[in-house]
Amino acid sequence: MRHEHADTVIVGAGLSGLYTALLLDPDKSVILLVKTALKESNSRLAQGGIAAEMKHEKALLEAHIEDTLTAGHHLNDMDAVKCLVNEAHENIELLLKEGVQFDKDASGGFLTTLEGGHSTSRVLHSGGDATGKDIMNALQKEVKQRKNIRIFEQTMAIDLAVDNGEVQGLSALDESNNTVLFSASNIIVATGGIGSVYAASTNPPIATGDGIAMAKRAGTTIEKMAFVQFHPTAFFDPENPEGRRFLISEAVRGEGAVLKNMKGEAFMEKYHENADLAPRDIVSQGIHREMYDTWSDHVFLDTRHLDSHYLKQRFPTIQKELETRGYGLGKDLIPIAPVEHFNIGGIKTNLHGETDINHLFALGECASTGVHGANRLASNSLLECVVFGRRIANTINSMVHTETQAPVFNYGQAASYHYGPVRKKIRSIMEEHVGIVRRKHGLEKANKELKGLYDTLIRYPNHTKRYYETLNMLDVSLSIVRDALKRPKSIGCHFRID
Ligand code: SIN
Repeated sequence: MRHEHADTVIVGAGLSGLYTALLLDPDKSVILLVKTALKESNSRLAQGGIAAEMKHEKALLEAHIEDTLTAGHHLNDMDAVKCLVNEAHENIELLLKEGVQFDKDASGGFLTTLEGGHSTSRVLHSGGDATGKDIMNALQKEVKQRKNIRIFEQTMAIDLAVDNGEVQGLSALDESNNTVLFSASNIIVATGGIGSVYAASTNPPIATGDGIAMAKRAGTTIEKMAFVQFHPTAFFDPENPEGRRFLISEAVRGEGAVLKNMKGEAFMEKYHENADLAPRDIVSQGIHREMYDTWSDHVFLDTRHLDSHYLKQRFPTIQKELETRGYGLGKDLIPIAPVEHFNIGGIKTNLHGETDINHLFALGECASTGVHGANRLASNSLLECVVFGRRIANTINSMVHTETQAPVFNYGQAASYHYGPVRKKIRSIMEEHVGIVRRKHGLEKANKELKGLYDTLIRYPNHTKRYYETLNMLDVSLSIVRDALKRPKSIGCHFRID
């Protein structure tokens, strides 16, 4: 079996993976494992921006902390929230150094926007609504130039090797499903989200919860999986209701767009005093209720009262995507419905990104740092990637790197099965019973059916990427269902109606 070694192996090349790689000591070797191509990641799709208070004013920082706690229903870890908010500024400066350009006004000041749950305009953006794409382009350019970083594309991490509570390396499958072994002093899991376990998501199809499932198999603590956030305003296309759904940023509501039901009524004031700019869980739940009451599968986003010229300039990506679907900002009622967007729980970490396995770190959407509580404040996720990425890089840079041996794994045969029917079944169970609203009976049914599928898959192992992805989807779905069953009370994104 092929064997590779690096001081640090990073699994995943979204914002978390790339930013941390760039901050690691350039004298130490880094391997970046990318499941598909470097240019494909969920971070790239982020539109709204990155929440960051750039003025060092106590009251403004406190307001960001307060908004994060209010959105998170105070289930947040206070120390983690303080790190997130207080270290925002210095990490934005580092992004600027890496070549990221945030939008500025004519006098050179940063342009900021409002999003749901924010009491002040503090969300920085780039290219109007292309924040993720612009950040990722800048970081990818840098990463490719670094001599200490090697990138392995089309390589999916499968299993972690842990000895005596210490991570030693991992196994992976390359593009031809050949096993490659990686040994490393430190491993950072930064594999992103879980969107593919739901029928519809804003995530790309590669988001199958791989890092969470792999870390769970190795024995780390996985927590708060019940808190799956649904984005309120994904474009609704009746011809294509499933798969990846195009996101219409909260920032559009920040600029004055209003949600309307099938009867043409604005309804968000019924649900929250901040109406259309209420925290995301409340907006998604409000829309769900309106859809139920009007027997429909979508509501509308109304921008017709706003200046269409300004909107097109401010949201060029959204406008372009809408045009291809026959709609325009400032012109039409846009059909939207909530879909899965972000996984709040995941691999439990401390303030330095450390898991409960030595030298194993987790970061970004697959990690549970505690910053988001029961519901994430919009645009705090890119911020989490950079703040905790820097903390992980500082921790690793201060360590003495140890020698590790090639890990040993024994795998069986590989058959080219596609697992399409199992995946379809997972998505339908999760959408029906583990969506925006949940009932005990539905969760129990989901648990039973998913467990049946999981047991069958485990009985027939198959050493291919499709097999492990499907197994990971089942593992992650079961974690969500079981955590949801343990929480009989509604809080944040976990909404029980029994
Ligand atoms: C959005 O632009 O609405 C998405 C931002 C986020 O998920 O934080």
